[in-house]
Order: sequence, then structure tokens, then C-alpha cells
Amino acid sequence: AKAEETTAKTPDASGEKLVVGFAQIGQESGWRDAETLSIQTYASENGDKVELLFADAQQKQENQIKAIKNFIEQGVDVIGLAPVVETGWDQVFAEAKEAGIPIILLDRRADVGEDLYATFIGSDFIEEGKMAAKEMAKLLGENGKIVELEGTVGASAATDRKTGFDDEIKASYPGIEIVASQTGDFTRAQGKEVMESFLKSNKDIKGVYAHNDDMALGAIEAIKEAGLKPGEDIKIVSIDGVRGIFEAMAAGEANCTVECNPLLGPLLFETAAKLKAGQSVDKWVKSVDGVFTADMAAKVLPDRKY
Ligand code: AHR
Repeated sequence: AKAEETTAKTPDASGEKLVVGFAQIGQESGWRDAETLSIQTYASENGDKVELLFADAQQKQENQIKAIKNFIEQGVDVIGLAPVVETGWDQVFAEAKEAGIPIILLDRRADVGEDLYATFIGSDFIEEGKMAAKEMAKLLGENGKIVELEGTVGASAATDRKTGFDDEIKASYPGIEIVASQTGDFTRAQGKEVMESFLKSNKDIKGVYAHNDDMALGAIEAIKEAGLKPGEDIKIVSIDGVRGIFEAMAAGEANCTVECNPLLGPLLFETAAKLKAGQSVDKWVKSVDGVFTADMAAKVLPDRKY
């Protein structure tokens, strides 16, 4: 029993802790906060085995690059990164490779060669966009004008959710017209602002597709302030599955969310431990996403974890 106890507490054969440096994007959404909490909670609950160096880049790629360089200097075992945008990573990833430190891309992709990162853990954003399009079509009876609130320009979550949604609408639902599409940077405040301007310049909007729930929640405020009923006059479909959108759905003010799992902390550290031990990991560890509609909201709300 004693030996087992030692094994359980010991991170690897050498008895050293697994040191992970994680460069987070920032705090733009409830989803992002849930991901950060998942990572930090795992680290604090497993402090005997792992050490986390955490950097909040406040939405800036240059800060993420600085954080990665700092992690390299400190000689961490593994670097984790949620890339704020897709491009511009080649040089710093090459430096990590040179130093023998594997990189785990968490939740968002980077546009680099496969030799420059160990694995991507996260969702299929194109598929999420397609699922959202199908739900929007059902809600609209396949007809009507809609607007799109895009995420951060250049982020894989925004680019792919747009591609998936727009392609599916074009291919399968000719009666639905996307009359305006603009970034709200994944934040509630900008979602509201952009929706206000959409409402001023477009008549007869029947639906909003938002690349995340926070922007949808901002749009709901704008729609109410314009004297219309979100969820009824204007259907709301978004992505993430945060508690706020379930509350809005239960109140009849939103219609559907495509869930994207942010609780990736345990998987991040388990994968990092494998990489440190020299084990192979899949190039894409895919999250499974589900669809939740308004009629399910009240029942599942008490069990939501984020
Ligand atoms: O990369 C995942 C996206 O980033 C989430 O949908 C969004 O809320 C977050 O900011």
C-alpha cells in the first residue's frame, strides 16, 4: 500500500513535478473564465504533482509570445497555449522546439506546420457552425433575414464558425439570407453595440447567429432595448453553453446553443504528463459538442458546470 501511495503522489519516475506554462488569451467571455478556472483548479488540487505558470495575455498576441519566451527561459516541461489569433506563431514555436519543449494548443488552432506543435485539444469549430446553421433553419422555417456576430478577427474559433455556418446556409437553405456580419470580438459589450447598429440599418431581422454566447447575451439586451422580443421576434442561436445563455433560454429569450466544452484543465495536464514521459499523443484530441434547445434549458440548468 505504501508503494502505491508513493506512486500516486509522484508525478514521474524522477519524482519531479510536471511544470506547465500556460499562455491564456484573456477574460473576454464566461467560457474563457471557465477554462481558466478548470486549469487553475486542476493545478491547485494536484499541487504535489504539477506546477502551473499562468500568464493572462489580455487579448494580445504579443503578450502571449512574451509569455512563451519566458516559459522557455524558465525551462518548463510543456507549454500550453490558447492562440488569440491563428497566424504569426512560427518563430516562437520554433524557439520552443529548439529548446525541446512541446507545445499543446488548447481550444484554438494555430496556423503552423504539424512539426511545430505536439497536439491540438479542442472542438471542431466548422462542425459547430454547421450545427448552428441547421438549428437556425429549423427555427426560421428555412426563411428570413439573419445577422451574424463574429468572434475575434483572425481567431480560428471565429473563422471556422463562420465558414461552417455560412457554407451550410448557402448549400442547404437558399431562403435564409445573411444580411450583415461583423465582429463583436467575443464580448458581451461589443455584441450589444454591433447588434444595435444592425437593428438600425436592417429591417425585418428574423435571427441572430453569434459565434459565442456572450455576444448573443449582448444582442439580447440590444433587441429588448429596441422594443422587440428576443427568442420570439428575433431567434437567437449561439455557441458555448454558458450558464447565462441557459438562463436566457429558460426565460424564453434565446433559442439554442451549441455546447463547446471549456473544462479542459485535466486533459491539458494529463496530455502534458504523457508528453513529458515521451509517450505519443494524437495530433487532435477532439472535444464532443452537443446541441441544447430552449425546451431543454430549465431541466439541465441546475446541472450546468459553467
Ligand atoms: O476558443 C473558444 C472561444 O473563445 C469561445 O467560444 C469564446 O467564448 C471564447 O472567447
